[in-house]
Amino acid sequence: MGNNQNDHHEAEYIPNSNKEMSRRQFLTYTLGGATAYMAAGAILPMVRFAVDPILQKKADGDYVKVAEVTKINNEPQEFSFELKQQDGWYPSTANLVAWIRKDESGTIYALSPICKHLGCTVGWNNNKSYPDEYHCPCHGARYTKVGQTLAVSPKPLDTYKVKIENGWVYLGSTESNTVVK
Ligand code: FES
Repeated sequence: MGNNQNDHHEAEYIPNSNKEMSRRQFLTYTLGGATAYMAAGAILPMVRFAVDPILQKKADGDYVKVAEVTKINNEPQEFSFELKQQDGWYPSTANLVAWIRKDESGTIYALSPICKHLGCTVGWNNNKSYPDEYHCPCHGARYTKVGQTLAVSPKPLDTYKVKIENGWVYLGSTESNTVVK
């Protein structure tokens, strides 16, 4: 009978041993899962940080509603607008200016007022000696109505990307002058 009991105990011990293994495996899986979860928590923000500039690049293609089409005529007019920017994690607002005009064929274009000499701000018709020109007060650069350089500056004024939608002029980023022939 004793033998039988021993057999019985041994018989019971084996399943216990199996249970012990199961518990160890369970802990391994659980701790492994928790570690993976914590690692993901640390890595995901890094991935997002790396991906954000790419998303930001996409946002750079955004246009800002600036002026009603009906307000634009053949005379250059100055319009101010705000561009919301994201530099890494830091949002900021840039106050920008564009000189917008409709050419003889009715095409609307917008010039950047940043002088291509050394970056001062030009104005339209702001020098009595040179009427109907853009003039830079810093070193005397002059530009035509379409931004073509007449003096001092090596390059024409930049233009903004323009989009017309629902009777409004939208401006995007600046680019090398697209209207100078
Ligand atoms: S910065 Fe405009 S002329 Fe020099």
